[in-house]
Amino acid sequence: MTPDSSFHGLPEAKRTIIVAIDGPAGAGKSTIARHLARHFGLLNLETGAMYRAFALKALRADVPLNDSKLLEELAAETAIRLEAGDSENSVLVDGEDVTGLIRNPEVTDAASRVSVHPAIRSWMVKLQQQLGAVGGVVMEGRDIGTVVFPHAEVKIFLDAAPEVRGQRRFEQLGPAPAVQPEEVIRDLRARDERDRNRADSPLKPAEDAVLLDSTNMTLDEAVRAAEAIVEAKLSGAALQA
Ligand code: DC
Repeated sequence: MTPDSSFHGLPEAKRTIIVAIDGPAGAGKSTIARHLARHFGLLNLETGAMYRAFALKALRADVPLNDSKLLEELAAETAIRLEAGDSENSVLVDGEDVTGLIRNPEVTDAASRVSVHPAIRSWMVKLQQQLGAVGGVVMEGRDIGTVVFPHAEVKIFLDAAPEVRGQRRFEQLGPAPAVQPEEVIRDLRARDERDRNRADSPLKPAEDAVLLDSTNMTLDEAVRAAEAIVEAKLSGAALQA
């Protein structure tokens, strides 16, 4: 992928930056990460897809999602690969492309459940650190700025009110969805609750993250705001270099 002209002539070294985007479901992370990646010529890596892919394997294998020992054994014989594409990531489990199978409510819920187990997290974190090691990435998830890349050059914590996030998710379900918006909001709150309160690497802003609340913004406005945050960090870094 070639950086576009909007990279503002920053020195080559700056193209190895890591932009960490964390936040709860439906805050607009994927849209913003995709946009930033395209705009700044970075690779977009969506770590949630990795937890989802492993959750799919656990569901298929009938492993209870609260059994950390069995999950750890399953992880030991699992290969997860995340590949950056132009518009979205592909995720492969043991060589099978499962990208189209991981967005349904069952896998969504299971991903949040498998992600509470420390052994699963440390396995995923290592994979993610390897993926981003060379830099030049936008990585989005829940613990990127706090755990995966605590020294990331840019950290954005994206948030929005649960009702707004739920409504956005509902609208993404397309015409005539089988659920009511209230159900989507309820599921999202339950997942938030688990992601924010787990003992290991709970969802929270890194101390040096820039907070971006998109409650009263369109996604387009949030994209522009995120872009400005990265620009400001990059020009600050360029001045110091
Ligand atoms: O971003 P997502 O909704 O696709 O993530 C699915 C679940 O994976 C989420 O509920 C919590 C977990 N997750 C995580 O714990 N850490 C990450 N870096 C990314 C996702």
